[in-house]
Amino acid sequence: MNKIIISLSLLLFSNNIFAQTVELSSPDGKIVLSVNDEGKPSYKISLSGESIIKTSCLGMAFKNTMPFSDGFTISSSQEKSAKSVWQLPWGERKNVTDHHNELLVTFSKNDKSNTNKFKVRFRLFNDGVGFRYEVPKQEGLDQVEIINEFTEFAINDEKKATAWWIPARGWNRYEYIYNTTDVASVDRAHTPFTFKLDSGTHISIHEAALVDYAAMTINQKRPGVLKADLTPWSDGILVKTKTDFKSPWRTIQISKDAVGLLNSDLILNLNEPNKLGDVSWVEPAKYVGIWWGMHINANTWGSGAKHGATTSEAMRYIDFAAEHEFAGVLVEGWNVGWDGDWFFNGDVFNFSKPYDDFDIAAVSAYGKKKGVQLIGHHETSGNVTNYRNQMSDAYALYEKHGVKQIKTGYVADGGDIKRIDKNGIVHKEWHDSQFMVSEYLHSVTEAAKHKISINTHEPIKDTGLRRTYPNWISREGARGQEFNAWGTPPNPPEHTTILPFTRMLSGPMDFTPGIFDMSFNGLGDKSNRPQTTLSKQLALYVVLYSPIQMAADLPKNYQANLAAFQFIKDVPTNWEESKAIAGEVGEYVVFARQKRDGDDWFVGALTDEKARTITMKLDFLDKSKRYQAQIYRDGKNAEWINNPYEMIIENKIVTAKDELILPLATSGGAAIRFKAL
Ligand code: NOJ
Ligand code: CA
Repeated sequence: MNKIIISLSLLLFSNNIFAQTVELSSPDGKIVLSVNDEGKPSYKISLSGESIIKTSCLGMAFKNTMPFSDGFTISSSQEKSAKSVWQLPWGERKNVTDHHNELLVTFSKNDKSNTNKFKVRFRLFNDGVGFRYEVPKQEGLDQVEIINEFTEFAINDEKKATAWWIPARGWNRYEYIYNTTDVASVDRAHTPFTFKLDSGTHISIHEAALVDYAAMTINQKRPGVLKADLTPWSDGILVKTKTDFKSPWRTIQISKDAVGLLNSDLILNLNEPNKLGDVSWVEPAKYVGIWWGMHINANTWGSGAKHGATTSEAMRYIDFAAEHEFAGVLVEGWNVGWDGDWFFNGDVFNFSKPYDDFDIAAVSAYGKKKGVQLIGHHETSGNVTNYRNQMSDAYALYEKHGVKQIKTGYVADGGDIKRIDKNGIVHKEWHDSQFMVSEYLHSVTEAAKHKISINTHEPIKDTGLRRTYPNWISREGARGQEFNAWGTPPNPPEHTTILPFTRMLSGPMDFTPGIFDMSFNGLGDKSNRPQTTLSKQLALYVVLYSPIQMAADLPKNYQANLAAFQFIKDVPTNWEESKAIAGEVGEYVVFARQKRDGDDWFVGALTDEKARTITMKLDFLDKSKRYQAQIYRDGKNAEWINNPYEMIIENKIVTAKDELILPLATSGGAAIRFKAL
């Protein structure tokens, strides 16, 4: 009898009949988090009573010790609240408000001689939730190899929810056309992973402050259960670290409508403050460059008759930049290594040796005389060991020549980054593995020592680290303009109406807008070309935020349309305030932004393949001012396939009380400067 009672009580104990729940709400009370330890640690989230995340697992597993999962119970919890306003040296807005409630939950488990424990720190903002694991030093856990993270994001009605997503663990890294499907049809996807519930509530799952850890992708293991799926090292381990350690923040941005996602600062708020001190040397700017010519085969990166990066060509670009007040000229293909099969063999690159027809000293001196900086370029082709070995000399060389910004490139198939270990053995790693997360940040912190900013192509996704390292000035990490030159297929008309709600939630993108000549392969919807109108190319400068923006086309194409080019000359790249004012994912979007330390406002509006008319209230303007609205919009008969160039440029005097009606053509757009009078 006794025996039975004991085992029954043990059974009851292991099922944790004394399950505890701790709750916390967002400052406005609308988002409610509930953390539970019944059986295993879990959490759930609601917004104004609507289930956002159903009961979902927390925890992780290790190679050499017991997992943080079954039987861990809540042993303590602490709450606190904070409200502050902090400043971005450059960004979508100057002042950022961080208002959150915090809950720190400690889970523990007595296991024979050991007590194991881990903490989960939750932060609730009015625009969503972030949480991260904090694992203290403890017996049996010193060197750590994480082999699974149990975090789940379980949702209701996955068949009725719509997701916009790109696949993870693919050869093309983040450079995919977005899928629009029900959530039930998603398998493994990158974050930001954005979806809309049947109710219209929009949610985006991502992460913040990804440092020395594997990136999180999500994997639908069971219908509606999106599980964290960290990108492994080549040996299959997800994360190699030691106690104590912290995971990045797992983030869930939540909004009643699509536009709310665009106005959220949650990712930045979950990053650490600036660690670099005075960053006045980090300069938002516009640039032109020896770039598009290579992508449309007018030039080559390698040497020969069509070599783009020659001294005379660079000087010609400097003249153009000086005339039109661009701060920099990017020069790609200047250094030895581009001849032959560089794509599969990054060992060939020498980052200090220019081609014979490129005189780096003469070009940079000429630029200095004209007030234009040379922008550096380092293509690694994914051979990061080759790059690391040369990095210090390469950055010193650029610093000597007054270069303040370097575009880096990691062109290599996903899973094919070359890591050479100390024994000379080659391993193939993912771009979003822990190894590469650290490699990218290493280049940024090394560059900071030379007062150089980094614009990473084929990057790790952004997780808001620009707050901590403001010289990480931009990055690619999605299909950019280059796909319109040679992508199969090029970016479809809806692409730039999805990017703001997905990729752009993570941070700035070096998309390189501004192609004026769509006809390099002829028009028609099948050929490689931007599948947009000309006005939409202008709108991209406001819609797709980046503190550095390229005027990507060849100078002669701007010279042929100086009237439209004027908008690119006028648009700033650093903002006092930004407001997304309308939009639906994959359909259209409208942004208004105010110039940093200035009075002028700028608007960008763009649409997918459907023509539509936007009626826009101007109530974002200063009520006490009058403005001249300089409007660049699609002409009456504009449509992207056969008539992309027809544009109306008109001026109107307006105030905050007015409305503007903007007819957008198929894959069209509008760009407006509101010049304060
Ligand atoms: C890919 C980059 O995205 C592109 O901008 C660059 O021109 C090429 N790599 C060559 O580095
Ligand atoms: Ca690229």
